[in-house]
Amino acid sequence: MAEAMKGLHRSHRCTEVTNAHIGQEVTLMGWAQKRRNLGSLIFVDLRDRTGLIQIVFDENDIGTAGFEKAGKIRSEFVLAVTGRVEKRGGAINENLKTGEIEVRATDLRILSEAETPPFPVEDNIQTKDELRLKYRYLDLRRPRLQKNLLLRSKVAAAVRRFLDQEGFLEIETPVLIKSTPEGARDYLVPSRIHPGHFYALPQSPQIFKQLLMCSGYDRYFQLAKCFRDEDLRADRQPEFTQIDMELSFVDIDDVIDVNERLLAYVFKEVMNIEVPLPIPRMTWQEAMDRYGSDKPDTRFGMELKDVSELVKNCGFGVFTGALANGGSVRGINAEGQGGMPRKKIDALVDFAKGYGAKGLAYLVINPDGTYKSSFAKFMTPEELDALVKALDGKPGDLLLFAADKNKIVYSVLGALRLELAKNMGLIHKDEYKFLWITEFPLLEWSEEENRFVAMHHPFTMPMEEDLDKIDTDPGAVRAKAYDITLNGNEIGGGSVRIHQNDIQEKMFELLGFTQEEAQERFGFLLDAFKYGVPPHAGLAYGLDRLIMLMAQEDSIREVIAFPKVKDASCLMSGAPGLVDEKQLQELELEVKKEEE
Ligand code: AMO
Ligand code: AMP
Repeated sequence: MAEAMKGLHRSHRCTEVTNAHIGQEVTLMGWAQKRRNLGSLIFVDLRDRTGLIQIVFDENDIGTAGFEKAGKIRSEFVLAVTGRVEKRGGAINENLKTGEIEVRATDLRILSEAETPPFPVEDNIQTKDELRLKYRYLDLRRPRLQKNLLLRSKVAAAVRRFLDQEGFLEIETPVLIKSTPEGARDYLVPSRIHPGHFYALPQSPQIFKQLLMCSGYDRYFQLAKCFRDEDLRADRQPEFTQIDMELSFVDIDDVIDVNERLLAYVFKEVMNIEVPLPIPRMTWQEAMDRYGSDKPDTRFGMELKDVSELVKNCGFGVFTGALANGGSVRGINAEGQGGMPRKKIDALVDFAKGYGAKGLAYLVINPDGTYKSSFAKFMTPEELDALVKALDGKPGDLLLFAADKNKIVYSVLGALRLELAKNMGLIHKDEYKFLWITEFPLLEWSEEENRFVAMHHPFTMPMEEDLDKIDTDPGAVRAKAYDITLNGNEIGGGSVRIHQNDIQEKMFELLGFTQEEAQERFGFLLDAFKYGVPPHAGLAYGLDRLIMLMAQEDSIREVIAFPKVKDASCLMSGAPGLVDEKQLQELELEVKKEEE
């Protein structure tokens, strides 16, 4: 029978008890990790969110009834134990913070019994993800997840402290809204009072934070829940959290300055890691050319080299064909990988094809300096030498080349570079390399929609230097947009906003919005700008991604208490679910029966 708390007060959390408490009485509460019976003694490891402590039950201390009760304890029972702290009778456990002490129980209450859990509550267990997520409340008892959520809480608190000191106001914005300009699919919420009308859940607080600048709040921030109906990956959830901010009377350098200090503050406070400032900056074009990615992992080299000039007159049709199509030929050097078996090289070719490559050309520099290559027969020895020189090839190296439209070459070699670095062990897990990416293209051509779409969002300011190209060559216009990346991940992004009506109208025109459409979607923002708008800019971090990297996890699922799985469902609660016919009627909604 479960007993009550009456008259009991917890004196410490489990690992708050230390050698300094030896000889004192403590009252601890938590879950039984495991029980061992040694005849006249029973040992129980008691666990709470801080960790474990060993409890010893001895009939001489706790009496016959108490000892019998202790014999009934099973894993995950919830206990209250009062007893005396002593130096361990048995061997010291160096893996435990409380490894030199134990508590000799004089009183025990079983506050709750427990069924055998579907998996043991400990780290390093081989349990299927599905089972872990179905019983998330048990999974969350594991030290690893407790550590991650503690880290998350500490980061959130440090962010609030820093931004408060810097004069930011924390302001909440609505969750039932009209529409957002971020470009993913909206989650919709039907209105009961306005049948046939829907709210959208915010993809970000973008419009509202810009309105707050119009209202004079000067510096805003919020830890904001955002909702995006897009395909999920390890670093994407349908609902996630942003550290969202907006500042008035600033330009790019002001935003970057306060954010660099924010990152340095958080890493120092929470992890005692120094982030060297200033954080390096790289233009988008340089990042693409050198790393094939707008979020390059700069913890290792293996940079891309453009060899188009060297091969433009060669006899290899794959290369010259790509150049004739306006593309390029680029390569990377997998140093020391020349001995890679043919099978593994073929696997790399398949990997490249997964990123849109039609093939992958390779050249091995043998230990004796001769070459082995998939395209040697199409080239002169001089041309091959020039390629090797361009990639700094040495005996034992493996050179890989992609020829195609730039977009494909970047994505293939960018991905290959990461894959090779992983396999070659070039990535140091404990290193934190931040990098700003600047001067993004303003627009991106969408083959699907046959029009330009905003690379960031439609309120992003073009670079003043490029304004004259906006009519003649819009694809070449760069934006006052920036991303902050960490170890090859985009952890945040933002921009200086357009605050001039004529530029905003031009932008809508480029994006193919008619004036009416723009007015219908974002009219309230455009109207607000008529009444005095300060120049403003902002940025938002993906909090989940930041924590994932700080915790050295591979998925944001591991730093979110109740995450969703790939198909956007929650395995624990069963969301999304069907609703009552009555609810549908109230909403004047009808669900189409799916055809067999
Ligand atoms: P953006 O769309 O770049 O910018 O989002 C900002 C950051 O949010 C994170 N993020 C996500 N994290 C988890 N799951 C997702 N589905 C997801 N989508 C985005 C990323 C990203 O860098 N309003 C602008 C910011 C601004 O201009 O101020 C915005 O939302 O880490
Ligand atoms: P093929 O003449 O098609 O047999 O190709 C010769 C070599 O070029 C093979 O190693 C192919 O994998 C490689 N190759 C084919 N297309 C490309 C491409 N677009 N870029 C780089 N290499 C390619």
